[in-house]
Amino acid sequence: MSEEAVQSETGYLVRFSAAQRVEHFVTMVDFVGLVATGLPQKFYTTSWAQWIIGTLGGIDSVRWIHRFFGVVLIVAVLWHGAGALKAILSRKVGFTMAVNKRDFTDAVKTLRYYLGLEDHPAAFDRYDYKQKWEYWSLMIGNVIMILSGLTLMYPALVARIGPGEIIPAAKVAHSNEGLMAFLVITIWHVFNAHLHPDVFPFDASIFTGKISRERMEHEHPLELASAEGREPGGHGHH
Ligand code: HEM
Repeated sequence: MSEEAVQSETGYLVRFSAAQRVEHFVTMVDFVGLVATGLPQKFYTTSWAQWIIGTLGGIDSVRWIHRFFGVVLIVAVLWHGAGALKAILSRKVGFTMAVNKRDFTDAVKTLRYYLGLEDHPAAFDRYDYKQKWEYWSLMIGNVIMILSGLTLMYPALVARIGPGEIIPAAKVAHSNEGLMAFLVITIWHVFNAHLHPDVFPFDASIFTGKISRERMEHEHPLELASAEGREPGGHGHH
């Protein structure tokens, strides 16, 4: 019997390793830092922006703090990419974030279920289509924020390599994508982690690393079945 199967009999399964939990915590704090020092620069005429800039010691220090958090984000993204690559190449885990055809049929099935046109919701594996959507949006967003952020940090260098128009374009991309990232995290992510009926009031799994077997049955039945060495929907062979 696998380690997961043994743990599942105690009611909980390990979902995230200590390293994954630390990574989420670091990027969470870093993102708050980036938003808190980025948005006041975009909305500098407002009183709340003036208050933040004043509290942090003026615009120069706000810019430096933002760049510091920016460099932390770069390191975190490289770290994540290297870790993901290592895990996939080791073949101990599959590329569970890869998008496949099933995600599209799952999305349609789930919508049909919400509309009462289907008796059962779609059965998900380790990550459902919404989690994959959020993950890849975040990854693409990170690449945009990093490339445009570096362009704003080193405009003279970038203008030497390519056309000067890149700099105002980077500013527009960085500014709007930054605002969008803030809205996506506060509306979409907070809804899914706190307000969604499956997890209300708070999905603590990324902090504790654990998820209940009951939630696994409901939210990730396919992953639970393979962790317990049985066919989905079957009763296993312990
Ligand atoms: C999710 C991550 C990030 C968010 C939400 C964010 C947000 C913002 C916002 C809203 C602005 C103001 C733009 C404007 O004035 O309209 C800004 C400016 C800036 N950001 Fe970011 N940013 C992020 C990541 C980064 C990264 C990774 C870097 C670079 C390493 C970076 C470097 C800069 C620079 C250089 C500026 C121009 C202000 C200055 O000279 O310091 N940002 N950011």
